[in-house]
Amino acid sequence: MDTDSPSPLKDSDPVFSDKTPTPLGAEEAKLFRDVCQAAGYTSPRLEERFGLLVPPPSDRLPAALGATLGGRLDQNATPFDVLAKAFFLGTAVAAETANALLPDGFIRICLQCGLLVSDGTDYCPTALVAPVGTALLASDLQRIEYQDEAQFVPAICDAALHLNAVAIRQPVGRTLDLCSGFALHGVLSCPHSETVVASDLNPRAEAFARFNAALNGFDNLRAVTGELFDAVKGERFNLILANPPFVISPDAMTTYRFNPIELDGFVRQMLSQAADHLEEGGILQTICEWVEVQGQDWQDRLRGWLADSGCDAWILPANRQLPASYARNTLAQTISDEAELAAQQAKWENYFQQQRVEAIQGGLIFIRRRSGNNWFDVTQMTKPIRQPIGDAIARGFSNRDLALGDGEDALLASRLTVANGLRQVETSHWKEFRWLRDSIVLHLDDGLPVSIGIDEYVRTLLETFDGSRPVLECLDRFANQVGLAIETGRKQGTAMVRSLLKNGILVTTGR
Ligand SMILES: C[S@@+](CC[C@H](N)C(=O)[O-])C[C@H]1O[C@@H](n2cnc3c(N)ncnc32)[C@H](O)[C@@H]1O
Repeated sequence: MDTDSPSPLKDSDPVFSDKTPTPLGAEEAKLFRDVCQAAGYTSPRLEERFGLLVPPPSDRLPAALGATLGGRLDQNATPFDVLAKAFFLGTAVAAETANALLPDGFIRICLQCGLLVSDGTDYCPTALVAPVGTALLASDLQRIEYQDEAQFVPAICDAALHLNAVAIRQPVGRTLDLCSGFALHGVLSCPHSETVVASDLNPRAEAFARFNAALNGFDNLRAVTGELFDAVKGERFNLILANPPFVISPDAMTTYRFNPIELDGFVRQMLSQAADHLEEGGILQTICEWVEVQGQDWQDRLRGWLADSGCDAWILPANRQLPASYARNTLAQTISDEAELAAQQAKWENYFQQQRVEAIQGGLIFIRRRSGNNWFDVTQMTKPIRQPIGDAIARGFSNRDLALGDGEDALLASRLTVANGLRQVETSHWKEFRWLRDSIVLHLDDGLPVSIGIDEYVRTLLETFDGSRPVLECLDRFANQVGLAIETGRKQGTAMVRSLLKNGILVTTGR
């Protein structure tokens, strides 16, 4: 087998191609999936092999990858190596190697639909096909040089993985993947939705969405093209998932990533229009960024965006950056030239100063259309989320309805129990012949990770919740145990129960 030419890219590589692969028929799609499955071409295997879940730019492959699959494949290569090299790293594979390791039918399908082109000696990928969960998703090749193309359709990124991890995956009627790109969220919603719409400004995204639905064997996804909600005018959904262009900058450098309206204006516009596209009880989940403006509480600012929307809002900030580090971190992802980086950074910092931006926050925003008094709640996230926790997010909504919803009666009548898996870590120090307690910290690792310090009172209160009696009775037991007047125990205990419910430490029993 070939050993020459270590270059991962070929001179003949197409500059950005406006073509998209032609959707596969049901049998061809099944063969494609079966070959990938048999080769073990899955995201856990890619992570194990490369330490990556997100394809690296093929025109800037990390040196460690260049030394392995970035170069030519050797005689020990496996079908996984060929698939990973072509469809995850986006680099050419020798036709001889690919023909020897992959079934004829597979190569034929790839050439026919345009995923691969042959130059006589090599097969060059025209698109990536990355495994994400149970799906395979095609997108444009991940190349820094393509990113300025208005019609570039990016591959899976960290933000998309985060949104995917928190997406509520319960059976629903209609789901919308908004700003869908290659329709990762839409395709992964197909199994639990009656119908899915994937909508994006970019017509090439529509083509990739259609290709990906067919590739994964789904016929309940409709792909459309339009600005924000324009292509779904008058339609309502039970679930909307959106990873919009949210990066905040003085001049939106690329369509797929940068907020095109002043500061975080695009996210504000999306949220303010969302209620009109949600059914009662319908939820929008988005990953995005927003700014803190000098002299204004950022929570009040977001509350203002949603005032009169008829929606509950649950905000989960994950990281906060000062303008200088935000500019540096964001720009360094695509600019390697130090002089250009410094010039752009100065421009960005100047813009943030003019706009009186004190910090930029990134995180998740979930809103739910609901008649009644709407609640607004903020939960600080402490760790990145990788495992699917959609069920915990759905519980988070119902727990907040009890904790923050209308009146106290429903809360006091409910039966709660302590979440399974709750851990308690107690630290003490030795002083003058005895242990003195320093702290009691509760940790919840399932769902949204939680770590909170509590005192002896809260611990006693928690122990009264075994799911067998209503909250009111638990509060009275608690008051008796700690020697508080019943009224005081009820009042203080109710506030604690609200907080424990919101943290997921207390859960409803359904009784
Ligand atoms: C960050 S990418 C997300 C792609 C994909 N949903 C994901 O999670 O990987 C943002 C997408 O929004 C699309 N977009 C940008 N501006 C838009 C607009 N005004 N209306 C609708 N879609 C837009 C871009 O074309 C791009 O596909």
